[in-house]
Amino acid sequence: MASASIIDKYLETTEEVDPIKCIGRIVKVQGLLIESRGPQAIIGELCRIEVPKGRGRIHAEVVGLREDIVQLMAYEDTDGIEVGNRVIASGGRLEIPVSRQLLGRVLDCMGHTVDGRSDIASNIRYPAVNTPPEPLTRRRVTQRIVTGVRSIDGLLAVGRGQRLGIFAGSGVGKSTLLGMIARNTSADVNVVALIGERGREVNDFIAGDLGPEGLARSVIVVSPSNSPPLARLRGAYTATAVAEYFRDLGLDVMLLFDSVTRFARAQREIGLASGEPPATRGYTPSVFDSMPKLLERCGTSDKGTITGFYTILVDGDDLDEPVSDTVRGTLDGHIVLSRRLAEANHYPAVDVLGSISRLAPKVSGEVTRKAAGYIRRLLAVYGESEDLINVGAYHQGTNPAIDEAVAKKPAIDSFLVQTVEEKSSLVETLQVMSEITGLTIPVEEMEGFKTAGTGIFPAEDKTGGPEDGGGQDAADKVSPGEAALLPAAETETAR
Ligand SMILES: Nc1ncnc2c1ncn2[C@@H]1O[C@H](COP(=O)(O)OP(=O)(O)O)[C@@H](O)[C@H]1O
Ligand SMILES: [Mg+2]
Repeated sequence: MASASIIDKYLETTEEVDPIKCIGRIVKVQGLLIESRGPQAIIGELCRIEVPKGRGRIHAEVVGLREDIVQLMAYEDTDGIEVGNRVIASGGRLEIPVSRQLLGRVLDCMGHTVDGRSDIASNIRYPAVNTPPEPLTRRRVTQRIVTGVRSIDGLLAVGRGQRLGIFAGSGVGKSTLLGMIARNTSADVNVVALIGERGREVNDFIAGDLGPEGLARSVIVVSPSNSPPLARLRGAYTATAVAEYFRDLGLDVMLLFDSVTRFARAQREIGLASGEPPATRGYTPSVFDSMPKLLERCGTSDKGTITGFYTILVDGDDLDEPVSDTVRGTLDGHIVLSRRLAEANHYPAVDVLGSISRLAPKVSGEVTRKAAGYIRRLLAVYGESEDLINVGAYHQGTNPAIDEAVAKKPAIDSFLVQTVEEKSSLVETLQVMSEITGLTIPVEEMEGFKTAGTGIFPAEDKTGGPEDGGGQDAADKVSPGEAALLPAAETETAR
């Protein structure tokens, strides 16, 4: 019968076209985890959940696959979601539209603008989750980047493409310091990642610490504390992707990331929700896997550089908690902000002796290095005798080193203390160091470290271009041999 054969054909065809492939249905929602039957999707794939009783649609990402069940987590509030809602796979992972128009804009974790102006229209899209540049293609860090903060530029010189941690308790001045760097740095572009901050802190940072001048040369990516953990996690990746875009344009990018601790906590929430076992202090194994992967994306490539300042919250003085520990292993230096200094109104509260920039010897000139070592030693001597001095038990003339440290302490303090508004060029910073130490820092060291190939780089760096290819796998890390080049004061006090 003709009609029967038509029906058979129809049934055959519908069997081939498996509707579950692109559309699934919600079957369960429990805590952060959303489960659907279908669609056919890969881990990390972006999906859209249609929520007629909620905001219309929710973006979510595939985080697990179990037989025919797809496990998802949402980027947005899951209000109004119900069993039976349709889940539509996008066919790809999260990508961010990028262009130079991003400058001065504030984005959410998906790259949508949240500053009340229209979205960025661009055909260029960068994947949020990406792999770091191949080690062999990474340029060595040989040039300095200026932060405009005297204590850093003078005593903790930072290279373009270096990654540093800022370790501090809350309220010690991390955000203020990041704002100062954003406004004053010699970098071409800032990308600021505000991950897990409270909404009020975000507004304070953009309107206060950054200001219009800082915002104009920055792209801000915001995933506040009240957003779902996946949004906080992806915000970090999105910010990094934006930084990668500008690096690919051959620019020097400054990535100011606040904070890695909250990124790690977001990853922990996701890990626990998807059934990972808690390991160290409740952090799940994926935390220790994702943190280094994120940080590795920063640094140099064959085109440009991303210099990263990553803040890490330390409660009390516990620098050995697992997040600090993992991050420190990946970074090329750390800046410790001290509550004691902040309480004494010594801002920025940089604990110079507790901080180290491992690449400082490579990016600063010989006399600058000597002057920095000298000031560090004076601080160390003063620190050792401080109690005696304060109780009046030290008598001048007993020890020439202490006498000198005491005499120079006021000048060193006024060098280290800097108001929020004050900008210090490298020339100004190094001139003050010349005055304090009596060492004349040559003008080439003040300006000349900007351009490669001018012949003023330390000898060991002349051969280290991207073209020589040898031994580049640790391009921007300090090898044991290089560590020996650090001035004595720096290695002794490194934590
Ligand atoms: N450079 C500075 N100069 C003066 N006050 C500062 C400075 N840095 C921080 N502060 C003070 O410390 C407070 C907390 O600083 P903030 O940067 O918000 O800390 P965090 O981000 O570490 O929580 C500020 O509101 C301000 O009163
Ligand atoms: Mg803050």
